[in-house]
Formats: sequence, C-alpha cells, structure tokens
Amino acid sequence: MQELSVRHLLGIKDITAQDIQLIFETADNFKDVLNRPIKKVPSLRDITIANVFFENSTRTRLSFELAEKRLSADVINFSSSGSSVKKGETLLDTVNNILAMKVDMVVMRHSSPGAPHYLSRHIKANIVNAGDGTHEHPTQALLDTFSIRERYGEVAGKKVVIIGDILHSRVALSNIFALQKLGAEVMVCGPATLLPKYIKSLGVKVELDVRKALEWCDVANVLRIQLERQQMKYFPSLREYSLYYGIDKKLLDSLNKEITIMHPGPINRGVEITSDAADSQHSIILNQVENGVAIRMAVLYLLASKA
Ligand code: CP
Repeated sequence: MQELSVRHLLGIKDITAQDIQLIFETADNFKDVLNRPIKKVPSLRDITIANVFFENSTRTRLSFELAEKRLSADVINFSSSGSSVKKGETLLDTVNNILAMKVDMVVMRHSSPGAPHYLSRHIKANIVNAGDGTHEHPTQALLDTFSIRERYGEVAGKKVVIIGDILHSRVALSNIFALQKLGAEVMVCGPATLLPKYIKSLGVKVELDVRKALEWCDVANVLRIQLERQQMKYFPSLREYSLYYGIDKKLLDSLNKEITIMHPGPINRGVEITSDAADSQHSIILNQVENGVAIRMAVLYLLASKA
C-alpha cells in the first residue's frame, strides 16, 4: 500500500507532490462512498480523534467531524471558549490532558503560527493543522486544488490567481505551495499593502490590477479581508476596497472568456465578492465545501496508518 511521507499534516510545504496525488486518489474513492446511500465505512473504527479548536470555524470543524464520523472514528470536540484555557491552562497542558483520555489523532486550529508544529514535537498522536494563524491551512489547499482538478481534469498548466488579503491569509500560502507542487502557474492580486514583502521570492506573479488578473487566469480564488487579524488600516475603507478589488457578475461577464470562481469562506458578500458573482455559474464555492469532507477523510485515513 502507498503511504504518506509524513506522520503529521502540518503544512503543504512539508509534503510532496506524490503525497498530494495519493490524497487525491484516496479522496476520489471516499467521494464515491459519500455518494452512496450508506455513506459510512469502518476504516477508523477504534481510532479516537480530538478536534481542538482555539479559533472560530464553521466549515473546517464541521467537515472534519463529519469526515471522522463517516470513517467510524470516535470523536471528541474541544473549543477554547468555555474551557479551562480561560483559567490560564497552557496549550501543551490542554492537549496532554485530552491525550490522557487515549486519543490517537488531534485536529487543531490555533491563532498562533507554528502551534501545531510545536505540539508535534511534544506529543505522540498524529496532528492535523486545521489552520494556524496567518501561516498554513493545508486541508483547505488540498480541497481547493482537488476542486480545480475535478473542474478541469488536472491542475498542471492552469493559471490561478489568488485575490485579496494575502498578507493575513493561511489559505493563500498553502494554496501557493499546493498549486506549484502540482504544476499550476500562480498569481497574487490585491492592494500592495495586503501583499507580503517576501511574496515574489515564492515564485508567484504579482498583479495590482484586478481586471488584468482576471483576464490572465483560468481560476480566481477570492479571499476575505481578515479584519480580525489587522492591527492597522491597510486601505481607506471596505467600500473603496470593494470598488477596486471586488468581483461582481458585470466584471466577470465583461471578460472575453469563462473563468472559475472559488472562495474558501466565510464570504463577506458585497465586500470581496457580490452575491451575483458568488452564486453564478462561474462559482464552485459549494463544490469546494462538498469536497472538503472527502479530502479530510483521505488525510485522516492515510495518517492513521502512519501511527
Ligand atoms: N475555510 C475555512 O477555514 O472556513 P472556517 O473558518 O469556517 O473553518
């Protein structure tokens, strides 16, 4: 049986193109399972997984929990709000107490970049990074690239632009690594203040004009402005951001080609994208969410065999 080169999924930077292909092929099989009347398989029976979320989440948390239940794992959920973290308990103490209950895998979201990497050096369980601050969100990039593969047959050779708040986005970094490993061309587009200074060193194109970016690409992955992570004003107002970088149906219809619109969610409708664009025939946003369950089943299944 083929296996992953890693025993934790901490970031796309750490895995190979072969790992990604293996995850995709495994997710193809699980997607077939999810389309059957009986959507459950016994693959992770007797495995216990803790979903440990120190930051808010809708899609990632629900998608991991559903993936775990479809694989017949036992699942416990921890959310820092309402927990003893509020009484001063540390990250390591919190996780070690959860592991003392004989947990095999930990899925963790944390606001600090590197938190899952730190944990992986101190505990035996397999760890999946479900988003660490502004750093990486590997399963999001896997489901995004899987959705591009589903739409076009392959990712290699596709031109993908990531538009918006690149500076504060973990989705952007993981997507850049995944797309490049799979042979896509990557561009980032946004106001100069929301593009990290190191971005060109990653080998991506940079474009400040959103129309030129859309004319270049096959796929546009539109990101949310992460106001909760911004310590200062990066642009005059949301209205002005929307005017210069917002995607609407009129703009999409004015291009002389059909492009695909993606968004990792949550969407700020009317800011980075209007409803008529997000809900148009260009959009595969809900396909991304659907694919998230199969991708997370594949990641958990493959890591469980690397215990
Ligand atoms: N895409 C994503 O990470 O969404 P959530 O924050 O709702 O999990």
